[in-house]
Amino acid sequence: MKPTARRASFLFATLLVAMTAAAQPAAVRSPDGQTTVTLDVDKNGSPRYAVARNGVEIMPAGFLGMRFQSQPAFDDGFRVVNASTSNHDETWEQPWGERRYVRDRHNELLVSFESARGAARKFNVRVRVFDDGFGFRYEVPEQPGYGAVNITDELTEFRLDDAKQQITAWWIPGRRWNRYEYLYHSTRLADVPMAHTPMTVRLADGTHLSFHEAALVDYAAYVLDQRRPGTFRTSLTPWSDGIRVKTHTPFKTPWRTVQIAPNAAALLNSSLILNLNEPNALGDVSWVEPGKYVGIWWAMHINKATWGSGPKHGATTAETKRYIDFAAANGFKGVLVEGWNVGWDGDWFYNGKLFKFMQPYPDFDLQAVTDYARSKGVRLVGHHETSADVGNYEPQMPAAFALYGSMGVRQVKTGYVADAGDVRRIDGNGVELHEWHDGQFQVNHHLRVLREAARHKISINAHEPVKDTGLRRTYPNWISREGARGQEYNAWGNPVNPPEHVAILPFTRMLAGPMDYTPGIVDLDGYDPKHRVQHTLAKELSLYVVLYSPVQMAADLPENYAKHPDAFQFIKDVPTDWDESVGLAGEVGDFVAVARKQRGRPDWFLGALTDENPRRLSLKLDFLDPQVRYVAEIYHDGPQADWKMRPYDLVIEKRHVSAADTLDLALASSGGAAVRFKRE
Ligand code: NOJ
Ligand code: CA
Repeated sequence: MKPTARRASFLFATLLVAMTAAAQPAAVRSPDGQTTVTLDVDKNGSPRYAVARNGVEIMPAGFLGMRFQSQPAFDDGFRVVNASTSNHDETWEQPWGERRYVRDRHNELLVSFESARGAARKFNVRVRVFDDGFGFRYEVPEQPGYGAVNITDELTEFRLDDAKQQITAWWIPGRRWNRYEYLYHSTRLADVPMAHTPMTVRLADGTHLSFHEAALVDYAAYVLDQRRPGTFRTSLTPWSDGIRVKTHTPFKTPWRTVQIAPNAAALLNSSLILNLNEPNALGDVSWVEPGKYVGIWWAMHINKATWGSGPKHGATTAETKRYIDFAAANGFKGVLVEGWNVGWDGDWFYNGKLFKFMQPYPDFDLQAVTDYARSKGVRLVGHHETSADVGNYEPQMPAAFALYGSMGVRQVKTGYVADAGDVRRIDGNGVELHEWHDGQFQVNHHLRVLREAARHKISINAHEPVKDTGLRRTYPNWISREGARGQEYNAWGNPVNPPEHVAILPFTRMLAGPMDYTPGIVDLDGYDPKHRVQHTLAKELSLYVVLYSPVQMAADLPENYAKHPDAFQFIKDVPTDWDESVGLAGEVGDFVAVARKQRGRPDWFLGALTDENPRRLSLKLDFLDPQVRYVAEIYHDGPQADWKMRPYDLVIEKRHVSAADTLDLALASSGGAAVRFKRE
């Protein structure tokens, strides 16, 4: 199905003026009529909002507001002075993505709050309600006394009724040392202390909600702090001096978002976060290239090579040429080289100051490998590990990106390895300060990197990033990021990622946007039983479809792929850019199945995976084009497969199928299936 692009249409519907605290609350419904968001003030004049679904309250009234260092707070003593609604229906196109056309259909409510008593204060809340959830943002206009403002707290609440709804939550802890790289907890809502977003919950009736934010620009990210049972406050990540956000009026906050779906699988089809971001600000972005890459990477994680110099140095000219040959022979566009530049010797986790982004190690000839790559039709993928010393990195950035630009590099992987809260910067007095990975400083740093990179037609894949809030729409060169526990933990993690991990990610972290998980490990033995991938081979293949990223790594060593040519064929065939994506089935933490149509081609691909429990899935193929017959190349677990004892038992089967068929899959313990549907 190819929707046609439509133009924006704004229809201003109602305009209600001079509402008072006693007046009817202002309300707005989703286009399908199921979700209603209501705003008003309580008896103290505190602004608040509540949410109902099909007439039943699912989010009790939660407060809105903020506090400032030097001005009266926006907390109580307010009244609603204006409320207006409008609606919007537009279909816009992504230059690359999980789907080509995105429909943005929502109803909007703009509510103006002004002081009813006390000091003169005013702010607006803009709410957009879609069929797949809602978002709201504060818009604070210029007003006397509020020029430069330091926000000391945001008072936004997300409220749920755990007793009534028997809520299960999937979450990772917020503001802890390992940033977003935690295993997910699955608990009753009451047991969530402070969580990063997206945090996803399931209500007793099967409704799923996911709490996050969109368009995080020049502001701090938040974690959700359960201050009272069922009441989460947005706790903005502070600067090193304790201020949360430094800004001036007029300003807008990012959107505070709640995705809503009748079941887990429907959550996978939400475009809410993208729809709440601004359109492309970069103009022509035809230079942003999705695709697959290989690289000098896994060898370091499994201790076969080192980033630093010495006898085991990975990034040598000869080794890079070997990877270039491997990429060219197998149709991969990029070759990532980590450890090419001076600074890795010693304990690089703590030595961010030593990194030189222009100076290769003597055994790495940047010009020679660039020329060699060009002759083979592939490109280097650049690497800037900063160890979160942004003070060392920023002055070098212009020259470093210019160098890579001159070498024809189209993507740079950046890295901010350091404990959370240990991003170093130098202030105006030359003093070194320590900031969080998700505070306003680092949020702004990432945008400085994107703009600098865009000047040289370079895209960014950030590791140890701030969480994704959909900025790829505005900056399409923000091509991917890490921001969750990826494959690397299977090499050295303590513990490694358990079988359920990748059955949770699609419903949590990945609702925010693409992730550079780096799938494709086919040597499943690891270097000891505790350090190995806890998947079958078929499940590892399914990740290329299930875990969306426009850049996907074939992460294993060339010699390991040589041992598994059959499985490797799927990795060679699977694309990374799509016309359409459909979440077919799933339960958070149990299983998931996703189908995607290749961008500009008739082929579809499907990925399905399960946790430690074997299970059978019966999937309708009604997403396929009904006019077309396909050959399905099905890579599935063999009859003996299970992740612990027989992870390599893989069967590849060909079947003729059409949209009228159903595909029955038997998934082994921590197993999966990967399918290519080729037009006959
Ligand atoms: C952590 C990244 O996630 C990983 O991919 C990279 O190899 C190391 N940092 C070194 O930069
Ligand atoms: Ca990492």
